[in-house]
Amino acid sequence: MKKLLIATGGGDCPGLNAVIRGVVKRAAKEKDWEVWGSYEAFNGIMEDPVRLVRLDDKAVAGIHVQGGTIIGTTNKGNPMSFPEKQEDGSVKIINKIPWLVERFKSNGFDAVINIGGDGSQAISQALFEAGLPVVGVPKTIDNDLSSTDFTFGFQTAVQTASDAFDRLVTTANSHHRVMIMEVMGRNAGWIALYTAISGGAEICLIPEIPYDLNKVVDKIKSRYNNGRGFVNIVIAEGAKAIDGTITASKGEEGRHAVRLGGVCFTLSQQLKDAGVEADVRETVLGHTQRGGTPVAFDRVIASVFGVKAMELVLDGKFGQLVVLKNNDFSSVPIKEAISEYNYVDPNGTLVKAAKGLGISFGD
Ligand code: F6P
Repeated sequence: MKKLLIATGGGDCPGLNAVIRGVVKRAAKEKDWEVWGSYEAFNGIMEDPVRLVRLDDKAVAGIHVQGGTIIGTTNKGNPMSFPEKQEDGSVKIINKIPWLVERFKSNGFDAVINIGGDGSQAISQALFEAGLPVVGVPKTIDNDLSSTDFTFGFQTAVQTASDAFDRLVTTANSHHRVMIMEVMGRNAGWIALYTAISGGAEICLIPEIPYDLNKVVDKIKSRYNNGRGFVNIVIAEGAKAIDGTITASKGEEGRHAVRLGGVCFTLSQQLKDAGVEADVRETVLGHTQRGGTPVAFDRVIASVFGVKAMELVLDGKFGQLVVLKNNDFSSVPIKEAISEYNYVDPNGTLVKAAKGLGISFGD
């Protein structure tokens, strides 16, 4: 019997369970493969005793509709820079990749499927280069990987944000308010742009198009002067102002610090300071965008990714990441995939259309 290990790493994302189910169901068609899950990314295989779970047809029945991941996930315990306690009590950062490769082998594993974002795929690549047969599956609600047209989880995040937006519009309209809704996306504006088009926002602020506060204020004032006394703004957590007053995407720490304050609160204050007289209210959607059951499109992508990943294992094609490119499911070398960032709307088509719909980007 050959043994496959699956792990899910980084933030959770709607569709993770559908990938796991896809892998297990495809593997079950072969008589000589059994699938195991490592709890909380690779922590399950790194610990002593190991924390692993056998995943068969029964274990994955119906899980494709559930959010989260049945094998858990974590951002902690990166084997490339692992904090290990020394005998003298001090902590040393160790590269445990060579040790981890041996650990897989000594536990009898023949292949690994690693489901995760750019951080997790950097680990996949390091393991592959160290001799481990690995296949990667990309995961992020941010849709910021250029090697794939869509990542699973993105459509669900947009649906959640769009539903919330619809609810805010009624308050904006009834109270003649400016409503600001902040969405996730890290350094990418995909969720914000799709939500703004879907919901019919007046203003959309994304990291790829730094905004001029004066232009945002002009747009708001023109709406009130025209007698259409309400405004709905979608702002991406990574949005930037041209004068640097909002620089959310300045590295992981900067981004986190701004998120604690919430870019939408900073923008709200800026609008008041710039003389916007209408009431302004702020909403941060946060992790609601990552939770709950995946929408149908994400279930489809995730399930097919799972099947394709197992087929790459069966074909012995390692060091590959499954992707959806040009409406077809295929794979690319993990190394290529992690080095590219998917800026929103590379050809400018969507932004142009959004402007045609009257959405201002403050540029
Ligand atoms: O990358 C996915 C994502 O949800 C981003 O949109 C967001 O900035 C980040 O993860 C949040 O991470 P955490 O759950 O660690 O706060």
